Amino acid sequence: MKRLLVSLLLVLPLLASCTKKDNVITIGEYDSLSGSDATFGLSSNKGVRLAFDEINDAGGIKGKKIELKTMDDQGKNEEAAAATTRLISQNKVVAVIGGVASGRSKAAAPIAQAKGVPFVSPASTNPDVTKIGDYVFRVCFIDPFQGSVMAKFANETLKIKKVAILRDVKNDYSVGLADAFLADFKKRGGEIVADVSYQAGDIDFKAQLTQIRSKNPEGIYVPGYYTEVGLIAQQARQLGLKIPLMGGDGWDSDKLHEIGKDAINGNYYSNHYTVESTDPAVTEFIKKFKAKYNETPDALAALGYDAAKILAAAIERSVDLSGKSIRDELAKTKDFPGVTGKITLNENRDAVKSAVVIQVDGPNRKYITTVTP
Ligand code: PHE
Repeated sequence: MKRLLVSLLLVLPLLASCTKKDNVITIGEYDSLSGSDATFGLSSNKGVRLAFDEINDAGGIKGKKIELKTMDDQGKNEEAAAATTRLISQNKVVAVIGGVASGRSKAAAPIAQAKGVPFVSPASTNPDVTKIGDYVFRVCFIDPFQGSVMAKFANETLKIKKVAILRDVKNDYSVGLADAFLADFKKRGGEIVADVSYQAGDIDFKAQLTQIRSKNPEGIYVPGYYTEVGLIAQQARQLGLKIPLMGGDGWDSDKLHEIGKDAINGNYYSNHYTVESTDPAVTEFIKKFKAKYNETPDALAALGYDAAKILAAAIERSVDLSGKSIRDELAKTKDFPGVTGKITLNENRDAVKSAVVIQVDGPNRKYITTVTP
C-alpha cells in the first residue's frame, strides 16, 4: 500500500504536466516591450493577445487553448535571437510570432528556420526577411512597394521634383526603404539632391539638416523610427526648413507627435491601415480593441492581430502540430479577411496588399489616399 502511494505521488505530477501540455498549444512571441521603439512591441503584443483571447473564448484551436509566451527583446537584435532560441528550446512553442523591426527579424528568423519552426512577422517590411527561408512568413507588404508609394505621392500629389533623403544607417529597414524610394523617385524623373545619414540613438541632426538645407530640396524623405523622426522634425523646423517631411510605417506611434509636437504636423507617411476605414472588419476590430485596452489601435496592433489570426487558422487546418504541416498550411493562406486588408501569402511568403498615405494631424492620423500594388 505504502509503495503504491509513493509511486502514485511520483507519477501524479508527471500526469498533471502531461494533461496540461495536451490541453494547450504554446505559441511564442518576442517583441520590443521596452527600449526606444517600445510602442511597436507593446501595440503588436496587444493585437496578438486580443486575437488569441477571442479564439480561446470561442473554444481554442483543435479543442485546445492557446498559451502565449511573450518575451521582451528590448529593441535589440541579439535579444530577439536569444528570445527565439529560448522560446523554441525551452518553451517548445509550435510557432513564433516575430517582432516588428526588420533588423530583429533578420537576427531571429534564421533560428526558427534552422529548427523547422514556423515564424510569422506581423510587420517587418524589409525584403530580405522572408528570403531567410521557407519557414519565414509575414502578413505585411514589403518595402520596394512601400517606397514606391511615397515616391508616387511626392511626384503626383505633392508635385515635387527635388527630394533629400535622411536615412538611419543602423537600421536595415531604413536603409532598404530609402533605397526603394530613391530608385522609384528617380524613375519618375525626380532628383535626389542629398542622401545623408544618422544612426539610431542620435539626438542632434543639425549638421545633416544644414547640409540638406544647402541643396534646396522641396521635401525630405526620412524613413526612420518615430523617436528620431520626432526630433528631426523639430530640428528641421528650428533651422527654418518648412518643406514637407515624408516617411514610412516606422512613423506610426502615438509617441511621434509627443516627441515632434507641432513640428511634425502636416507631414506624410505610408502605413498599413487607417482607423478612418468604414470596412466592418476594421470598425469591429477598433471597437473590440478599445473595449479591452481603452486606446485606439495603431497599425502594429492591427498587424499583430492579423498575424495571430492567420497563424491560428493555419494551425487549425494543419493535420498535426508539427512545424512542417503548420508551415505548409501557412503557405496556403489565401484571401484571409484581415483588418489590414485581404491577405494572400505569395510564393515568397509575403503579403501583397495596398498601403495608405497618412498625414500627421496632432495626435490623430488623417487618411489621405490608398495605393494598390
Ligand atoms: N516595417 C518596419 C520594419 O520593418 C516596422 C514597422 C511596421 C513599424 C509597422 C511601424 C509600423 O522595421
